[in-house]
Amino acid sequence: MKTYSNPFELFDEWYKHAAQAGFRRTLLKKIYPPAVMHQPDSATLSTATREGRPSARVVLFKGIKRQGFCFFTNYGSRKAAELAQNPFAALTFHWGNPERQIRIEGSVEKLTFEESARYWVTRPRGSQIGAIASNQSSVISDPSILKDRVTEVESLYKGKEIPCPEGWGGYRIEPEMVEFWEGKVFRLHDRLVYRKEGDHWKTERLAP
Ligand SMILES: Cc1cc2nc3c(=O)[nH]c(=O)nc-3n(C[C@H](O)[C@H](O)[C@H](O)COP(=O)(O)O)c2cc1C
Repeated sequence: MKTYSNPFELFDEWYKHAAQAGFRRTLLKKIYPPAVMHQPDSATLSTATREGRPSARVVLFKGIKRQGFCFFTNYGSRKAAELAQNPFAALTFHWGNPERQIRIEGSVEKLTFEESARYWVTRPRGSQIGAIASNQSSVISDPSILKDRVTEVESLYKGKEIPCPEGWGGYRIEPEMVEFWEGKVFRLHDRLVYRKEGDHWKTERLAP
């Protein structure tokens, strides 16, 4: 694997490679049922409470802004509550063929409202309605409650644009450590870690 002066170039190279494989499969959606479809943009986001109790879930990676890895979510969700208590996270990608893993760790901050709103307008209307209708991570007594909420939100915005809600938006993870892992034969995998030191990145190879 190539070594660059920062982790963003290698991330970009690997992500583009994984995304190409994903788009090819997307064209074959009819042949591959969604369950076996490769989603190159899905990554595991790990957060922790103030006491350090971890939790993890999959989110969709939405690009790099101001050298931070971005995703969007509900600001009232469990992950948002944990990020408010402890603004550090890990984001882990895994792709096959070649088998690769990227581990990103760093501090987290919310995107600005303008940045979130810019992405909001690109989302399909159905997803905008869904985001407003669902009070993510809260307990619901029956799935029909969600359907009723969707109908309510649809009628509220009938014939109108749906503005980006204050309670929804993006986060960016500013990396302090990025590890690239590539699978090799006989478990002699290649691991390259970038650690931020002041304004430059130090690279080290780790035993697999
Ligand atoms: C492939 C996939 C992509 C997902 N993308 C997102 C996402 O971008 N944002 C999000 O809030 N939840 C996403 N989810 C749902 C989360 O995994 C999770 O259920 C939700 O965010 C609530 O998590 P929390 O209760 O820990 O906050 C995704 C789930 C899957 C399986």
